Amino acid sequence: MKTIIEPFRIKVVEPIRLSTPDERRELLRKAAWNLFAVHADDVMIDLLTDSGTSAMSAEQWAAVMRGDESYAGSPAFYRFESAVRELMPFKHIIPTHQGRAAEAILFSIVGGPGRIIPSNTHFDTTRGNIEATGATAVDLVIAEAKDPENRHPFKGNMDLERLEELLRREAAAIPLVMLTVTNNAGGGQPVSLENIRAVANIAHRYGKPLFIDACRFAENAYFIKCREAGQATRSVPDIVRDMFAVADGMTMSAKKDAFANIGGWLAMHDDELADAARNRLILTEGFPTYGGLAGRDLEAIAVGLHEIVDEQYLRYRLRSNEYIGERLTALGIPIVKPVGGHAVFVDARRFLPHIAALQYPGQSLAVALYELGGIRSCEIGTVMFGLRPDGTEAPADMDLVRLAMPRRVYTQSHADYVVEVFEEVVRLRDRLPGFRITWQPRQLRHFTARFEPIG
Ligand SMILES: Cc1ncc(COP(=O)(O)O)c(C=O)c1O
Repeated sequence: MKTIIEPFRIKVVEPIRLSTPDERRELLRKAAWNLFAVHADDVMIDLLTDSGTSAMSAEQWAAVMRGDESYAGSPAFYRFESAVRELMPFKHIIPTHQGRAAEAILFSIVGGPGRIIPSNTHFDTTRGNIEATGATAVDLVIAEAKDPENRHPFKGNMDLERLEELLRREAAAIPLVMLTVTNNAGGGQPVSLENIRAVANIAHRYGKPLFIDACRFAENAYFIKCREAGQATRSVPDIVRDMFAVADGMTMSAKKDAFANIGGWLAMHDDELADAARNRLILTEGFPTYGGLAGRDLEAIAVGLHEIVDEQYLRYRLRSNEYIGERLTALGIPIVKPVGGHAVFVDARRFLPHIAALQYPGQSLAVALYELGGIRSCEIGTVMFGLRPDGTEAPADMDLVRLAMPRRVYTQSHADYVVEVFEEVVRLRDRLPGFRITWQPRQLRHFTARFEPIG
């Protein structure tokens, strides 16, 4: 059979309120053209993020009911711990309320002024948590990652030469090496098993631990199975175990590849680091057998981890994004290629060349998708990255719009609808306006800035 069907049936539904372009024009005006200010029930297809937005399975909901809420030693913790350890065999597994809490604990211990933390590309909360301690976050992704047209199969790979060079020069300042799988900030691009092993090898030669930021580990493993020589006949759980066998620790947001709506963890082999992390955890999150979570959340994660490595699911997951990418490419819409694991990234600067970077082509496209079709996406460009600490503004490297796919939430007809809305956007592209910002905060302006269309 050619059609890859959604490998699930729908048991519980959430109605989508259908709205009209006229209604949405008014809603946009009220939200000052910032999609973060639009109420979620005024959105028809919400592609703002894949984080915490998964549909949980019947088994997960059943596990939620089993959740034991004992303060210490809940069986929910031990089920969670053994589900994590089955895939990622770390000695210490420390639950947190989400990924950034694991990062904050880790870097409060190993960060600090003068420290340097290299990665392929740090996600913004990772970078934020490193910089908050006074340390420096360095991105060392391969050069191919910066070219949207380059079809390198593992565009998330670390540049090994630059990593080695940094370690040679700055070893004393580097407490650990990180690797983000898949590389979210670089378009959800995977890292090869060969690269993970090579990074571990280099780090270990300098006596440094390797920590994996593992949010989308299952998508990464399935890319390895499909694209890396010698991996095609191996099971996804085996590939996952190989990815973590060479690592010394990990941070995780269970809001991605654990099908949970909240949760995360920090794991490592090192006893001393684990003691320090648990002390910090008790101060900021809670007792080590629940972290910042309820027992029911730990149960949902344990079941989610079992479900996420299912190959039928992963095949459907990667194919649904690739399908949207192929259809947009056929419409002549420039996207980041190849399509990543959790999202399609549209190159708005190339799509709307009549809008200058400082008039935010990404914002213009995101607003048009909402106005014409009720689709919420996310500008990842000059609005998000263009404001410097001194208050001046510069164009970001790229002006992208991210269509992030929640897991198991939307169907093929939703995907076809997204493509149809893009057809309409293509017809109107020359008339889409640039935007100006009428108010903005000093930091993270994309969440709350107010805009108005130019002309
Ligand atoms: C690669 C990566 N690391 C860390 C995080 C932070 O996780 P959380 O949102 O659970 O704090 C995210 C979230 O999007 C992410 O994509």
